[in-house]
Amino acid sequence: MTFEPIRLGVVGLGRAFVLMLPAFRADPRFRLVAAAEPRAESRSAFESDFGGKTYSDIKELCTDPRIEAVYIASPHEFHGDHAVLAAGAGKHLLVDKPLAINLSEGGRIITAARAGGVHLITGPSHSFDAPVKLAADIIESGEFGRLRMIQALNYTDFLYRPRRPEELSTASGGGVIFSQAVHQIDVVRLLAGSKATRLVAMTGNWDAARPTEGAFSALMQFESGTFATLTYSGYAHFDSDLWMNNISELGTQKPPAAYGNARRTLAQVPHPDEIALKTARTYMCETEGPRATEHEHFGPVIALCDHADLKLTPSGVEIFADTSRSFRAAPAPDRPRGGVLDALWGAVRADEEPIQTGEWGLASLEACQAILESARTGLPVGLKHQISVPSWKGTP
Ligand SMILES: NC(=O)c1ccc[n+]([C@@H]2O[C@H](COP(=O)([O-])OP(=O)(O)OC[C@H]3O[C@@H](n4cnc5c(N)ncnc54)[C@H](O)[C@@H]3O)[C@@H](O)[C@H]2O)c1
Repeated sequence: MTFEPIRLGVVGLGRAFVLMLPAFRADPRFRLVAAAEPRAESRSAFESDFGGKTYSDIKELCTDPRIEAVYIASPHEFHGDHAVLAAGAGKHLLVDKPLAINLSEGGRIITAARAGGVHLITGPSHSFDAPVKLAADIIESGEFGRLRMIQALNYTDFLYRPRRPEELSTASGGGVIFSQAVHQIDVVRLLAGSKATRLVAMTGNWDAARPTEGAFSALMQFESGTFATLTYSGYAHFDSDLWMNNISELGTQKPPAAYGNARRTLAQVPHPDEIALKTARTYMCETEGPRATEHEHFGPVIALCDHADLKLTPSGVEIFADTSRSFRAAPAPDRPRGGVLDALWGAVRADEEPIQTGEWGLASLEACQAILESARTGLPVGLKHQISVPSWKGTP
């Protein structure tokens, strides 16, 4: 079969790009042709690995006529400006989560994409994981009755991984709400199908040396009557991946000897050197990480229907029905992050809208903002920018 690969430009050659690289490398439908990145080391690594053209400023990248779509993987406080520039230059957009850090920036991106006549996808996020899609399909089929309740939980050492100063400042989009809650919100919204209506939450900001939200619990209500609890701690010592068959977020086996690595490493560096640690995790050359053997995931998720509880695993969905237990496997992961790249390919080459559009990303961003507001005021927050999954047909 012959096809024309999508010529892609990357904005930001940092950690997010490193995590997407195995996906781009494994998928012949994409060719990395250019990148915009202020750091010279990563620009020259990109040129030598991909032979592509690099720019220190996104404005120059946007004038490159070869580029059809851009993957925006710059820090999230820049997503608004970067996405608006690229959309204005007629490039399709894959904007890493969160879409932006406030609703007006998110709205500006959506308006620019519409005006530029380009597709806008918010991702990757864990709502693209194949077991999440499988569970959503089972729920939507009504096979086990109505969906009543969802629980999503994740305990990690997120706050103790190397961070830039902005990643520890809520005003700049730092903390676990913008970077991590957004994954859980995406997953829960996809499973629930209907529009979220309101949310109440509490947050934890417990380490004065890292003064941002590191934990939260939220209770979300949906139009269908389903409710969901979302709990995340980035201060954790217990690692909830142990409840996911010891498979990491990226679908790889977790070596037990890695226990405590994040805190151990951080304790060894004087504070200013943390930036160097973070930079060491950005793109410097092509590296082969451990191969994913299972799907990516974002911690334990259980969806309770009238006649079965569905437990998501890194390989599929365990079904605890009224009188029997069974397992449905998600299609084996033939390549990393296939879901988000299928969405990008479908949008650019076949004009198909995925679920995770700009409006989808804005709705998840609104829920992130609502977590912060509810924690501040102690009150529930009504949600106004929510959308349902397009195939949602109402409560069966
Ligand atoms: N989906 C995922 O799995 C995932 C994982 C990590 C990060 N992210 C998201 O990716 C984004 C980047 O986070 P990160 O952890 O990779 O940060 P990072 O600091 O590792 O990388 C950001 C990169 O952008 C570059 N940059 C800074 N200013 C720029 C500019 N004006 N133009 C172009 N490039 C610029 C930096 O030099 C750096 O290389 C965030 O929105 C984050 O939420 C997503």
